Amino acid sequence: MNAPPLNPALFHLDEDHLWVMHCAEGPVPRAAMRAVRVFMQKELRPWEMRWEEDFLGLPAALRAEAAALLGARMEDISLTPTTSSGLVTVAQGYPWAAGDEVLAPLGEFPSNAWPWLALARRGVAFREVPLWDGHRAGTDAWTSLPPTATADPEARILAAMGPHTRLLALSWIRFQDGLRLDLRRLGAACRERGVHLVVDGIQGAGTVPVALEGVSAFATGGYKGLLAPEGLGFLWTEASFRQSLSPSGSWLSVVDATEFSRPSTDLHRDWLADGRALESGGPNLLHASALLESLRLINGAGVPALAAHIGSLQGRLLDALESSPWRAECQRLRALLRADRLGSILAFHHGGRGSDYLQELLRSGYRRGIFASVREGYLRVAFHGFHTEADADRLAAWLQLATGTAN
Ligand SMILES: Cc1ncc(COP(=O)(O)O)c(C=O)c1O
Repeated sequence: MNAPPLNPALFHLDEDHLWVMHCAEGPVPRAAMRAVRVFMQKELRPWEMRWEEDFLGLPAALRAEAAALLGARMEDISLTPTTSSGLVTVAQGYPWAAGDEVLAPLGEFPSNAWPWLALARRGVAFREVPLWDGHRAGTDAWTSLPPTATADPEARILAAMGPHTRLLALSWIRFQDGLRLDLRRLGAACRERGVHLVVDGIQGAGTVPVALEGVSAFATGGYKGLLAPEGLGFLWTEASFRQSLSPSGSWLSVVDATEFSRPSTDLHRDWLADGRALESGGPNLLHASALLESLRLINGAGVPALAAHIGSLQGRLLDALESSPWRAECQRLRALLRADRLGSILAFHHGGRGSDYLQELLRSGYRRGIFASVREGYLRVAFHGFHTEADADRLAAWLQLATGTAN
């Protein structure tokens, strides 16, 4: 069997818990817990806290590691508590005019809907585009058909752009059906049209290599594929786009903020040009100590290696289910996999079986120590770099058996 690129022994994983739901919440490596403990020891004895090393150095190291993950510059990283807060920073900071429009795919996770809907009072409209025939969301979500490899969601998005569209806001990888959108193609088309592409990247960060050409902003929390606790993530912004945003106005967003030889009350200063201009004061250092360890682990293994491993486990699971009642779903998902249309979420559509069926299936998994998740008509199985071929085989055995009993 192939060794996984992230050694499972670095986590607290055991036989009783097969966790395939980092698309909801990722497991944290032991190193992150150790780092938090070390940091808390310093909080107990604040005289051990180092200004350069801890207060300034830790966030700087984290911005650098986040930049390495994205293949970007650390100056373009802002530390933010969540994906939502990154998107809100963009939504609130952008120089809108009444009549402007934000376009988004239908059925976005709400963190990529509410920040734009909140702009209605400023005269900004929010419009959703269905991505394939039979695509539904909201109260009709369960009646939606699932995406197929023959759909061309990017073409639908681009065709829907209008003269008032200023910004296209979308999830790189969709939370419920797992479809991955082509950022390169959308970015190039947005650039041509003078539209800003803003990405909710949380379902791909840490598990899929990203290309940011043509993207204006990319927001992620750290608690899913990035394997850190909830509470800290980051926002990447393209430099010229960032200059168009209002700064957050925090005391650390200005030149020489921590140069105490200069009076702090001297307000004659410029805003910083880098990502710190969008941060909201002193970052959460405790969380930073954890997220830094998680990112080091991921960058050490390399996102391309993690993605390749995840793809091979997905293929193995789909192979094993070929002759099960999931056959049609396996074919749909395999075609999406081959077309490079998936991230780490394999989303099995309920196919008319309904909500109760999926909930019962989920519970039968829990009884076997398998922790998957259900959202909007899909059973989601999410592999990461620490999963093994034996894990994929265990999932296949559950789904074959459970499908028979739950039917
Ligand atoms: C696509 C997507 N975006 C955003 C979020 C939530 O992000 P946050 O809590 O970091 O704001 C989720 C959570 O499931 C998600 O799936």
